Amino acid sequence: MKNALGYEGKTVVLTGAASGMGASAAHLLVDLGAEVHALDIGDVTAPVHRSIRTDMKNRASVDAAIAELPAEIDVLFNCAGVPHPPASALDTMMINFVGLRHLTDALIPRLREGGSIASIASTAGMAWKSNLETVQSFLALETFEAAAAWLADAPDLKADPYGFSKQCIIVYTQTLAGELARRGVRINCISPSPTASDFMSKLTKEIPEEAITPFFPSNGRFAEPEEMGRALVMLGSDLACFVSGVNLPVDFGYCAEVAMGQRDNLMNIT
Ligand SMILES: NC(=O)c1ccc[n+]([C@@H]2O[C@H](COP(=O)([O-])OP(=O)(O)OC[C@H]3O[C@@H](n4cnc5c(N)ncnc54)[C@H](O)[C@@H]3O)[C@@H](O)[C@H]2O)c1
Repeated sequence: MKNALGYEGKTVVLTGAASGMGASAAHLLVDLGAEVHALDIGDVTAPVHRSIRTDMKNRASVDAAIAELPAEIDVLFNCAGVPHPPASALDTMMINFVGLRHLTDALIPRLREGGSIASIASTAGMAWKSNLETVQSFLALETFEAAAAWLADAPDLKADPYGFSKQCIIVYTQTLAGELARRGVRINCISPSPTASDFMSKLTKEIPEEAITPFFPSNGRFAEPEEMGRALVMLGSDLACFVSGVNLPVDFGYCAEVAMGQRDNLMNIT
């Protein structure tokens, strides 16, 4: 079966294309024949159709990108994200979730039937169930301004704004699945385990690597960005044409081991 993934001639929008998992996905999508429109604050070197410099934490910048994007889209990949630290709690939430949601909500009406959305959450967001009420109260805030004001007044969040940003992606993904199914559009996310990207280099300058290794899968290593990019491209593709509302751990079985009581539940996954 030729073009089994279905990307040949498809219009794809991808954030975070400059580096890491997003760059890897961008290269693969171009190879598979997609017309890729890349959004990133940094320089995109993948041979994409078009690159639009965008700051996901700045509403005007995201709106300007939205105005430049095609009227019809097949697949949206949300890959841009930052670690906390070094990013501030507010920037982490605004980039990782608030900007992502603003872009996604704006592009949903442009998604063709049969299209899909695939975002990058994290195993750090897997405790979403025990925090569902707080996540849903945050999701109820519709504007950048309301989100920023809520975050400024949420001291509990400051402990783990990164985990909260990823819980928001997982809950948002599941919340939209039914509504989008009625239009024949899918929405999913992946939750990667620790991955050796620029993100990780920044994080390990702030916290020791020994604090990360307990979250490795039992294969005992960081994932490579390509290993995440491939899973993401698969989830957004026609091969996954009946898969929606799913948060797929891409962690070589880490979450499965926790669920089976074979590993300590360090992230309070329920
Ligand atoms: N590396 C990990 O261990 C890990 C684990 C789980 C999830 N994630 C998530 O994976 C995604 C990809 O990260 P990565 O590991 O490939 O890191 P990366 O740093 O290589 O890539 C992140 C991309 O986001 C872009 N970006 C950052 N701030 C931006 C902004 N304000 N506006 C627009 N673009 C911006 C960067 O320029 C870069 O291209 C992120 O959402 C991250 O939270 C990473």
